[in-house]
Amino acid sequence: MKAVVWKGLGDIGLEDVPEPEIKDPYDAIVRITTSAICGTDLHFVRGTMPGMQEGRILGHEAVGVVEEVGSGVRNLRPGDRVVVPSTVACGVCSYCRAGYYAQCDNANPGGRLAGTVFFGGPQAAGGLDGLQAEYARVPFAHVGLVPLPDTVDDAQAILLSDIYPTSWFGARLAEVGDGDTVAIVGAGPVGQAAIACARLQGAGRIIVVDGVGDRLDMARSQHAETVDFNAEDPVEAVRELTGGIGVDRVIEAVGVDAQKPSHGPAADAAAAQAEEFGHERSEAAPEQNPDGATWVPGDAPTLAARWAVQMVAKAGTVGTIGVYPPQVQHYPFGEAFMKNLTLRMGNCNHRRYVPHLVSLVASGSLDPTPLVTRWGDTRNAVEAYRCFDRREAGWTKVVLGVSEDGTVAPGLGEAAGTGAATTAGSPGPTAAEATQEAGS
Ligand SMILES: NC(=O)c1ccc[n+]([C@@H]2O[C@H](COP(=O)([O-])OP(=O)(O)OC[C@H]3O[C@@H](n4cnc5c(N)ncnc54)[C@H](O)[C@@H]3O)[C@@H](O)[C@H]2O)c1
Ligand SMILES: [Zn+2]
Ligand SMILES: [Zn+2]
Repeated sequence: MKAVVWKGLGDIGLEDVPEPEIKDPYDAIVRITTSAICGTDLHFVRGTMPGMQEGRILGHEAVGVVEEVGSGVRNLRPGDRVVVPSTVACGVCSYCRAGYYAQCDNANPGGRLAGTVFFGGPQAAGGLDGLQAEYARVPFAHVGLVPLPDTVDDAQAILLSDIYPTSWFGARLAEVGDGDTVAIVGAGPVGQAAIACARLQGAGRIIVVDGVGDRLDMARSQHAETVDFNAEDPVEAVRELTGGIGVDRVIEAVGVDAQKPSHGPAADAAAAQAEEFGHERSEAAPEQNPDGATWVPGDAPTLAARWAVQMVAKAGTVGTIGVYPPQVQHYPFGEAFMKNLTLRMGNCNHRRYVPHLVSLVASGSLDPTPLVTRWGDTRNAVEAYRCFDRREAGWTKVVLGVSEDGTVAPGLGEAAGTGAATTAGSPGPTAAEATQEAGS
């Protein structure tokens, strides 16, 4: 079968690999109909998440059809359409049963302290092959896989594999409540989805910070207020927008590949800290292999974290979902301490949130489709990765479709989504209205 394979830093390819087989009674083999590229995949190729093994199939976001199940899988049959949550968990241990699926005691062959298990990641994450492939082996399939109703199509369901559950989790971490003023730092797919999630959890005002024009436009078309860090100092702008107080909650959706502003008043301040950021970057990405402007690690690894702590109000909450690898040792601890902040963070417990999100989509309260800005053919995955890595206009969320004959899904071509409103608040528009608004 064909799959997207990690060959080294700055080096991925579409390769022929053996098809997966059932190894354990709780396994299932899923035929992938749709997969997607995530900001997390970029960390592996840029070098900001170490420990990848050569030949590892990439990808941890997919929708598919169950092809075969092991003898222990009693709840699924071949032919069932499912969304595959990015993380893998046993469902039995005390952590899973308390809802902390990302901290499962049994899923990682490296032991209970080895870390979160997810598809297509480093050895420390369980060494599982990923989902940007024609078929995948899913361990603990009876716990993980979430069946889909026919009314939820692949274009909606693909964003329920990782992006929306992570954003939902981010809003929960940030303790978003009724009427809160919320800042979202980062307007990639995760930050975009956090707009709808924060709103559905009660947010009154939402302010989104990024430096990429079309991503800010997309946030604005979801009716968030936007701040361009290349035009304004984002901390000053947020304080000004909040009467000098700061926001009640921050969802930080950038992570270790944070960048310095290139223009504007914040660029000078960041330039003055260049040495410090350079040091952090060599700590975060000791090895890297950029190809011109592609696969370049972020040049200010803790900048999004610093801005989050600075723009939140005293006694506010920061929920961090942007990923930081274990080798990152810096955080604005003293500043956070002096403001009595609550800091919460981590890997999403996908399985806890996916079924509820499927229901929200099926009922029409949420339509994720507009966030899919590119629908490509898996055969062109490498070029799609490169465009997404460079944050090119229109390449905010890249989905890879595989239909029976290997072409893109019917009706979805280039620039599938326009990023228009995913929800107008609670109660949101119906899926049909949202689709109409998106003009697709
Ligand atoms: N916690 C989890 O379980 C989980 C799950 C999925 C993704 N993630 C992480 O979420 C993060 C975002 O993922 P994505 O797919 O949206 O990635 P992405 O790379 O597309 O988005 C990151 C965005 O941050 C912006 N950015 C860069 N520097 C910034 C700064 N200083 N201030 C504000 N914005 C800045 C970029 O312009 C970009 O739009 C990644 O770190 C990813 O690994 C975490
Ligand atoms: Zn992802
Ligand atoms: Zn478990």
